[in-house]
Amino acid sequence: MKVLFVCLGNICRSPLAEALFREQAQREGLNVEIDSAGTGSWHLGAPADERSRAVAARRGISLNHRARQVRATDFEEFDYIIAMDQENLGHLKKLAANEKQRKKVHLFREWDPVGMGDVPDPYYGSEEDFEMVAHLCERSVQGLLAELKGLR
Ligand code: 4NP
Repeated sequence: MKVLFVCLGNICRSPLAEALFREQAQREGLNVEIDSAGTGSWHLGAPADERSRAVAARRGISLNHRARQVRATDFEEFDYIIAMDQENLGHLKKLAANEKQRKKVHLFREWDPVGMGDVPDPYYGSEEDFEMVAHLCERSVQGLLAELKGLR
């Protein structure tokens, strides 16, 4: 099973979602390959935003990802392509080459047991906004993991 998390810059939300999901998947013994990417290209090669790294560090997790852009082969390679918000969901659906690929594209909070919606872009926000992103990711990680464990 291969899962790709996608946001805009691939420096704030999706590297955090990737690391939180990896941590929990390992803890629960689920064999899954995980990566993240951005729909935008401004931050190619950059490490995760220091505010995301701080949020992860508070949970004992380090972020080692370098930003990359979504590429056409991702739609073949990955089973789940998971957008952080509606805007990126729309971009991904347009990038998908056919219906089979489009069906792989989901909104992350489809798996949030508390409610649907976006994981909001925290780039121009505060430390609290980054904490909120982490909370929303943690909730959705649980739901997604439960689904993938059911598919084993
Ligand atoms: P991300 O956050 O999509 O969660 O990585 C952003 C990072 C950079 C920008 C926007 C959002 N930006 O405009 O450069």
